[in-house]
Amino acid sequence: MTNITLVLGDITEQSVDAVVNAANSSLLGGGGVDGAIHRRGGPDILDECRDLRGSRYGKGLPAGQAVATTAGRLPARWVIHTVGPVFSATEDRSATLASCYRASLRVADELGARTVAFPAVSTGVYRWPLDDAARIALTTARDTDTSVTEVRFVLFDQRAYDAFETALNELPPA
Ligand code: APR
Repeated sequence: MTNITLVLGDITEQSVDAVVNAANSSLLGGGGVDGAIHRRGGPDILDECRDLRGSRYGKGLPAGQAVATTAGRLPARWVIHTVGPVFSATEDRSATLASCYRASLRVADELGARTVAFPAVSTGVYRWPLDDAARIALTTARDTDTSVTEVRFVLFDQRAYDAFETALNELPPA
């Protein structure tokens, strides 16, 4: 049974087995969560990302997929990089956003990670409305069969935390 928890804080401070990064397809860093993870985690993370670009992901990591690297100096063992979809008002990309969570949990299972911290993927630079992103994230985490025992959503501000808390309370029965 996976325990879903909500935390108001900084994902780079979470002592978990795996921290999920809201990356972009280049895997070569950015702002937001991506910037914080690389800044705090140090160059080893980027080195492994560059290796991935030089091998399995020559064209970059597609949206909805996930891949792991070392966590460098973070209080975690791995970073699982996933690429969220950019929000579109005309095209429903919900399945791709759900895939970020499902694929990240599958990678966590492959690693043997039991505790995983997620940010609110796509809700920053990629402009996904928080309440809808929270619903997709929580529904997917609850409905995905995984050996992960704790899925921890780490929200960076009170507005995001409140959106996730509301969505968690309103989750329809499985
Ligand atoms: N810890 C937890 N959450 C954070 C942190 C942090 N240190 N920093 C930012 N966030 C929150 C944001 O407030 C937002 O709610 O993470 C959520 C995702 O925002 P972004 O990091 O902007 O990610 P996303 O919207 O998925 O856009 C990804 O942004 O940083 C670039 O390289 C990244 O191109 C990619 C794009």
